Amino acid sequence: METRKQILVLGGDSAIGKALAEGLSRDEHFELSATTRRRKEPARSFFDAHDAHTWNKLPDSPAAAFFCFGNTSLKECESNPGETRAINVEATLDLAQKYATQGTHVIFFSTSLVFEGKHPLSGPETEIRPQGEYARQKAETEERLLKLAGMVTVLRITKFLESLDSLMRQWMDELRAGEPVQPFHDRLICPFDRNLLCAASAGVIRKEVTGILHLSGEADISYHLLAAWVAEAIGARAELLDPISARDLALEPEPRFAWPPWTSLDMARSEKELGILPTPLSRVRKHIKALAAEAGGNSGMEKTGHE
Ligand SMILES: NC(=O)c1ccc[n+]([C@@H]2O[C@H](COP(=O)([O-])OP(=O)(O)OC[C@H]3O[C@@H](n4cnc5c(N)ncnc54)[C@H](OP(=O)(O)O)[C@@H]3O)[C@@H](O)[C@H]2O)c1
Repeated sequence: METRKQILVLGGDSAIGKALAEGLSRDEHFELSATTRRRKEPARSFFDAHDAHTWNKLPDSPAAAFFCFGNTSLKECESNPGETRAINVEATLDLAQKYATQGTHVIFFSTSLVFEGKHPLSGPETEIRPQGEYARQKAETEERLLKLAGMVTVLRITKFLESLDSLMRQWMDELRAGEPVQPFHDRLICPFDRNLLCAASAGVIRKEVTGILHLSGEADISYHLLAAWVAEAIGARAELLDPISARDLALEPEPRFAWPPWTSLDMARSEKELGILPTPLSRVRKHIKALAAEAGGNSGMEKTGHE
């Protein structure tokens, strides 16, 4: 019988790492392990990027290692560049070097924020212009990773749909209570979902695709449109939406220029080499409906009497 490929997810409690570990563990060709910083989970490898001792206890020479850990807060990267760089750049590169030397396929998640985003669908040929510390850290890590000897893939991604779940649940709670919500009308996101994440990741491992690949939703949407879909899914009144401009809100220390006008990515290479397609907006709406049903759907509105 064919031996299963050992796959390591570094940062298994991240939104992306968790979805990836769940998705890939259903594939009989892969044997998954995912690290944690939760001491209460002795069955999983404890890994703290700041503590090099924990690196020695990580599995040796897995077939592939997904780098999902890091400080993903734009605000913290801006206010604490030294500390966040230590994990997002230096620890990531040191560990990647260790694994690349062992023959492991290193797969790193980068971001569409490395682009200035003056137009939709930034492509591999589009010039990198990171606008903020988080994006600069990602851009530098990409560049240095791709110079390592060994198998390295940079997956540049847009907004992971499930990373919006807590915001959407909060909106649902507020709307059900008859309170207004204030989504940005001038900040765009381009959500992609776990089906695309897992299909792309499995394909990259199987076909040993290296270099830069893009994963994206099919089109940019505003937070306002997302909130409108949320309101519709729970049957809330549209008048409760009070869209505001991100420019009017004090987001310091996150700089206002940190968010590009357009965030969608051109997936041509991923489509050609892996046979995958951007996440359709219909799938985003389906996900929102499922969230609404999980949280009580329209019956919740009836209970609170705010329909
Ligand atoms: N989500 C997105 O929309 C998105 C978009 C573009 C790029 N990305 C990239 O994709 C990757 C995963 O993102 P995500 O949003 O899924 O991440 P996330 O949910 O913010 O989780 C980050 C993870 O990193 C772990 N972590 C933080 N410091 C650590 C340390 N010192 N040692 C070990 N682990 C540490 C955290 O552990 P604890 O759980 O213990 O705190 C957490 O599980 C990141 O590289 C991110 O930059 C994500």
